[in-house]
Amino acid sequence: MPVFRSGMLALAGNERIQRVVTRNGFSKGFARRFVPGETLDEALAVTRDLNQNGLTVTLDLLGENVTSENEARAAADAYCQILDQIAETGVNSNISIKLTMLGLDISDELARSNTAKVLERAKAHNNFVRIDMEGSPYTQRTLDIAYDLHEQFPGTVGIVLQSYLYRTDRDIRDAIAAGIRVRLVKGAYAESDMVAYPSKKEVDAAYRRHMEMLLAEGNYPALATQDEAMINAAIAYAARNKISPDRFEFQMLYGIRRDLQLRLARQGYNMRVYVPYGTQWYPYYMRRLAERPANVFFVLRNLLKR
Ligand code: FDA
Repeated sequence: MPVFRSGMLALAGNERIQRVVTRNGFSKGFARRFVPGETLDEALAVTRDLNQNGLTVTLDLLGENVTSENEARAAADAYCQILDQIAETGVNSNISIKLTMLGLDISDELARSNTAKVLERAKAHNNFVRIDMEGSPYTQRTLDIAYDLHEQFPGTVGIVLQSYLYRTDRDIRDAIAAGIRVRLVKGAYAESDMVAYPSKKEVDAAYRRHMEMLLAEGNYPALATQDEAMINAAIAYAARNKISPDRFEFQMLYGIRRDLQLRLARQGYNMRVYVPYGTQWYPYYMRRLAERPANVFFVLRNLLKR
């Protein structure tokens, strides 16, 4: 992994830094670029605005690694309410969840039953739940729970696979065989070269390979990347192989490459924006800073200007 990214992700784990960043109203202002609000009402207003511009949404209530059963159950209840509100307001959005927010650090069974509760509600509303993928210690456990629930709620649940992991070629083949929907990402966590490609070049090559496998045989894959070269490669591959644009979607994060999001939507591609919201924005924000040195320099430059 590039030194800048691993260094930033290591710093993000430092409790003192977390205290300084989250207490500082200034960094809170900067986090707004990636996290448009702390309440569901704010997130729904942003969703409505994106919908009006031809973009669909996936809403993410921020939070991860909860350590109490009550918190995990409360998160499942909060997600059920989000699904109710999506239905009630008529916005075009599904949801993205993290299993460590629903209790995976406590037990697999707790995370599984909380997720089943959310899926039950999603199914009642004819909506869809994406299970985000976290660091590699969780990969197999997350997939086991997702496949188990896919049998119970086919079409209502999807997974995320990360191209930087060596194991992902096999995981893509399994997902295609099972017919489960996949969001393909490069991967955002600090991983060792025992499990993940260390260079951007190798990750990009893997992403292209996985993207082609999913476009050719996957069930409505979601290609989640801000990398224009990957997006152009997907469009070219789909055109060459007569795969129509309604058989896949692009996804991007809120606050990144809005110009490209709008352009793709205008060109007739399905474009979904990942909109995170809530008070627990710190780890998400730090992962976004780590992805791009320019983001950190921007924050520092503005801090110095004050
Ligand atoms: P890459 O990092 O190569 O960036 C390509 C270009 O995009 C950059 O040159 C820059 O222009 C722009 N860009 C990328 N990141 C930026 C940033 N932070 N700020 C400003 N510009 C930026 N990961 C994961 O491990 N589990 C998950 O569940 C998800 N879920 C997810 C959903 C969606 C919708 C997206 C788009 C991404 C994720 N990710 C994720 C994150 C993903 O793994 C990856 O870290 C980021 O998308 C950055 O990688 P890119 O593919 O954009 O390419």
